Amino acid sequence: METKETFGSKLALVAATVGSAVGLGNVWRFPAETQANGGAAFLLVYILCVFLLGIPVMLGEFSLGRGIREDAVGVYRRLSGNTPWRFAGVLPILASYIILSFYIVVAGWTLEYFFFSVTGDLYSPINAVTAMPWSTACETQFKGKMIEYILTDIKPIVFTFIVILMNLFILIKGVKKGIGKISNILLPVLFVLLLLFCCVSLSLPRAMEGLQFFLAPDFSKITPMVIVNALGQAFFSLSLGMGVLITYSSYFPKDTKLTSTAVTVSTLDLLVAMLMGVIIFPAVTSFGLMDSDLEGTTLVFITLPEVFAQMEFSEFWSALFFLLLFIAALTSTISIAEVTIKFFEDRFKMNRKKACMLVLLPLFLFSAISSLSLGSLSGIKVFGMTIFDALDFCASNIMLPVGAIIMSLFIGWHLDKNVLKEELTNHGEIKSYIYPYVAFILKWIAPILIVLVLISPLLK
Ligand code: TRP
Repeated sequence: METKETFGSKLALVAATVGSAVGLGNVWRFPAETQANGGAAFLLVYILCVFLLGIPVMLGEFSLGRGIREDAVGVYRRLSGNTPWRFAGVLPILASYIILSFYIVVAGWTLEYFFFSVTGDLYSPINAVTAMPWSTACETQFKGKMIEYILTDIKPIVFTFIVILMNLFILIKGVKKGIGKISNILLPVLFVLLLLFCCVSLSLPRAMEGLQFFLAPDFSKITPMVIVNALGQAFFSLSLGMGVLITYSSYFPKDTKLTSTAVTVSTLDLLVAMLMGVIIFPAVTSFGLMDSDLEGTTLVFITLPEVFAQMEFSEFWSALFFLLLFIAALTSTISIAEVTIKFFEDRFKMNRKKACMLVLLPLFLFSAISSLSLGSLSGIKVFGMTIFDALDFCASNIMLPVGAIIMSLFIGWHLDKNVLKEELTNHGEIKSYIYPYVAFILKWIAPILIVLVLISPLLK
């Protein structure tokens, strides 16, 4: 079944793909992972993962999607006849649904922070702290707010439900009207705002120490687990391994240059993550939070409000930032949900509305459980992690890389070589210098490296 709908313009297409890539992965997950994995050393491995593995795997997904023009499951089915390859698309669909169930919760938090910035509640002091010296008071202030907004039961669930409803609304409208448009204007605004906050953060006292933690690598910190986490983060942030990009590129027009699109998207995505690091880490050292018991997740929801509290018109900047972050998160949730929706549309010939309902309505239950696992259900541990963290670890650090291995093997070993070549050269219309490199990486390097990375923590 041919997909007729395509993105309206080249800009809309890049914006929508960047919209999928840039999200909570860059702003919430990246600083948290960087902090937990030794700072600059992690950043270095992360950058290598993006360029050496991320871009080739992205080009693999693009070629499959635009070449075949179907959902992830359909692509594998169409190309594999009766071989077991035809089941290869199932894992991504499953992984995407798991990611969606916790990602929507975090998107809900950003909406909540936007809302309470607008009402001023976030910056209104909680009673007990007013007597303390300023910086400690501030830490306790935002810690208190975070407990109230994120770790209790009702509030986060209400906002999560609002996010699900918004997804439903946008997704029913379809790709061009719903997804393409919204990403267009917002990205430039997000960039400008990030640059502004970088300046504020860098002007804080002791900012350089934080910057050093983020940018000056200590090579002894690179361990197998750091590499696994960097790889997981790269796949997560670039939206790889789950068929999101297979699905999106099935809407790309024939003359889109895949290589330059992939490089643009990956570079912008990396840039947003790095800007976020430059904002967060100086603030962390400046407020003396580096050695505190704070977990990574709290960087965005405690450290950042402190930066805003330093600025004039705190509520305004805070509201603006969390609004943009919310929209960035929304464009990503949309892209993740689209994978499963397109699967039902194409496989079961369902109409769009029905497919959207079928995918999104059960999330009211799953996301509520994710959210509660940080509140009342936090006593339940899976492998020592809360349900929320276990879902994240399993889907991001295991299922995404495994999805990417399967795809690389599929393209490298099973697929007719011409599909990749035809797509990278737009059927001979442009030259592709990196085709041989991409083909080699997908055939040998990506599968071997990802497998090694995945099993290395077990070999210790
Ligand atoms: N890349 C997005 C982010 O950084 C999240 C995301 C969107 C994603 N689509 C995905 C992650 C597909 C993995 C797979 O926030």
